[in-house]
Amino acid sequence: MISFENQRFHLRNKFFSYVIEISRGKYLLHRYWGRTLKEFRDSAPLQKIDRGFSGQLADFENERTFSLDVVPQEYPVQGHTDFRIPAYKVELENGTNISELNFSSYKIIDGKPALKGLPASFGGGQTLEIELVDACKNFTVYLSYTIFEDSQVLARSAKFVNSGNKKIKIQNAASAAIDFADNNFDIINLYGGHAAERTIQRHKVQRGIFEISSTRGASSHQQSPFIALARPDATEFTGEVYAAGLIYSGSFSAKVEAEQFGTTRLVIGLNPDVFSWTLEPNEEFQTPEVALNFSADGLNGMSQGYHQFYREHLLRGKFKDKVRPILVNNWEATYFDFNEEKIISLADCAKDLGLELLVLDDGWFGKRNDDNSSLGDWFVNTEKLPHGLKGLADEVHKRGLKFGIWVEPEMTNVESELYRAHPDWILHVPNYKPSYGRHQLILDLSRADVREYILDAMRKVFSSAPIDYVKWDMNRHMTESFSAKLPADRQLETQHRYMLGLYEIMEKLTAEFPDILFESCSGGGGRFDAGILYYMPQTWTSDNTDAVCRLSIQAGTGLAFPIISQGAHVSVTPNHQVGRVTPLQMRTLVAMAVTFGYELDITKMSDVDKSEVKTYVELYKELRPTIQLGKFTRLLTADKDGNEYAWQFADDKKVIVMYFKVLSKPAEPVRILKLAGLDADKLYTMKKYLPPKKLGVDGGPQKISFDEKSFYGDELMYSGIAVEKIETDFAAYMWVFEVE
Ligand code: DGJ
Repeated sequence: MISFENQRFHLRNKFFSYVIEISRGKYLLHRYWGRTLKEFRDSAPLQKIDRGFSGQLADFENERTFSLDVVPQEYPVQGHTDFRIPAYKVELENGTNISELNFSSYKIIDGKPALKGLPASFGGGQTLEIELVDACKNFTVYLSYTIFEDSQVLARSAKFVNSGNKKIKIQNAASAAIDFADNNFDIINLYGGHAAERTIQRHKVQRGIFEISSTRGASSHQQSPFIALARPDATEFTGEVYAAGLIYSGSFSAKVEAEQFGTTRLVIGLNPDVFSWTLEPNEEFQTPEVALNFSADGLNGMSQGYHQFYREHLLRGKFKDKVRPILVNNWEATYFDFNEEKIISLADCAKDLGLELLVLDDGWFGKRNDDNSSLGDWFVNTEKLPHGLKGLADEVHKRGLKFGIWVEPEMTNVESELYRAHPDWILHVPNYKPSYGRHQLILDLSRADVREYILDAMRKVFSSAPIDYVKWDMNRHMTESFSAKLPADRQLETQHRYMLGLYEIMEKLTAEFPDILFESCSGGGGRFDAGILYYMPQTWTSDNTDAVCRLSIQAGTGLAFPIISQGAHVSVTPNHQVGRVTPLQMRTLVAMAVTFGYELDITKMSDVDKSEVKTYVELYKELRPTIQLGKFTRLLTADKDGNEYAWQFADDKKVIVMYFKVLSKPAEPVRILKLAGLDADKLYTMKKYLPPKKLGVDGGPQKISFDEKSFYGDELMYSGIAVEKIETDFAAYMWVFEVE
């Protein structure tokens, strides 16, 4: 898959080609990324143009058509004739951060070396490692590129080694930089806030620099560490899209610069605003990995590429490709106000409804009856649970359900035994008062003693009872990122050291408890990123459980992350976050479109609703292999106007289509949905059809049958299916076809 000829590296599989050139024996230039090429012979050579105010390097003073400012590069530095945004900055002993990286050597390795201490892709492939040495031999950079036979994603990262004899300080170290020859792109990114994560934004590249970033010590609700450059004509099904997804869970930055000569540079990696790293001689620093994804088949092609890559090359553990249990979580059912009896009553009801896992959320430990206290005191509150976690877990198991619990190990409260014993364990700046978020303080995970405490506390909890599932939460962002253990000149290492500490804890616990299904959470989807998915194969997508809001949140999340990695729950109406009343069918189908569960007091549901729930639960069990592990396609443009969504899930047995329409409108054309990716010659038999019920009509359990009808794939793709018009808001439909 990787060849080296005529001073060019050509990385190629059936999905894409990526070409790097060594120019003038030392400069590493980016020459091509896109559809697979048989060979790269340079049909479009770099043009020699004398560009005013683009300076010449000393060795080429008289060659006015050559400047680093005008050539496409692989890992550029600023201040050395290139004035665009740099991929890195290293401060040398004399205070400068100007350097010059020259090609030195390369290696092609079979497989994918692990990245020390960091989440990263794995599983076959071939890796190109290029060694670049600073012209004054102060340091060396290794650029790493892994290509996999079965994936359209290229994995890139960089490693810095202090190969000189003086201390150096890395001020900025991107995972990748890519130069594009033009600026005819739309930027697609995912923005949001708490309970409003990953809204899709698409806008034209404009001259200047556009940045998405987080300084919050978490990938964040506000911006997702994902960015795409799509050709303006790219649709869900056609056109070229170049995307970058960072495999990291902390502060990050992704910048797009459209510069003076009409080219575009994309740089993605750690956020230099809250990062630096000192390297003593012989020490090394590894950047996080970035998943670069090229799709010639539009945005669906991009999403499918990420879904496949993360599922095959990033998710780990026994649950990675197992269908996930249907759960009931007590959070919105009881909040902190529960006891053993109440939880057992939920378990009884869950059993009756056919649910499979009961999750005990926040409030089971210490004196935690509200969110003011007890984080860090990981011992059971026997007033609420007199028989402990074990007693409760046994009762839940007796009913044939699995048992899960909530933890938030990275935090403490002033009102806790932990804080009273170790007030110095939190992130804080000496002499300044620490800031709070939800009354919480953040434990300094860059410290080994703090990590040991957390590991020990979690080991005790996880082995105190038969626990099948853990929800790992994190409910505030980082302020006062200062560690009492680090010297003054290393304080900007705190956030990244925290992340390395977190990854170390997650690595150990997930390895020691392989039978626990871990779900990550950060006030919903505040840390929904590929980094965490390496340790925990699913994430609670959002604290917003309203079905209408969830359409947009799940559409945005699905753009960059697999369906099986997203959790969604049916909750009560009026909804607790936005007060909206939506029919049970819409709430259910929206949640069924990913990894499914319930989060309401199921014991209080009417008998009619309960019997409807039983029907849905049974149906989801039958459909979930296709939904969670099949191929996902958006049949309508994701989130175009927020009123209509159509999602298809397919494998070799079934094709499932869901269609949602938020508000009913008059005088609209009949909506035809054209299915995608079917076999034109195969027959597909419509087995089930769920039209929506009119709002407020309590019609009893939905009748989910249909006169079986078979259609060839070509008809379903090219003529499509018509959506029966039913005058109601919040309409949710589902069709299930079986493949013959
Ligand atoms: C935030 C989570 O996203 C919720 O689901 C719930 O677990 C609360 N924390 C509990 O404090």
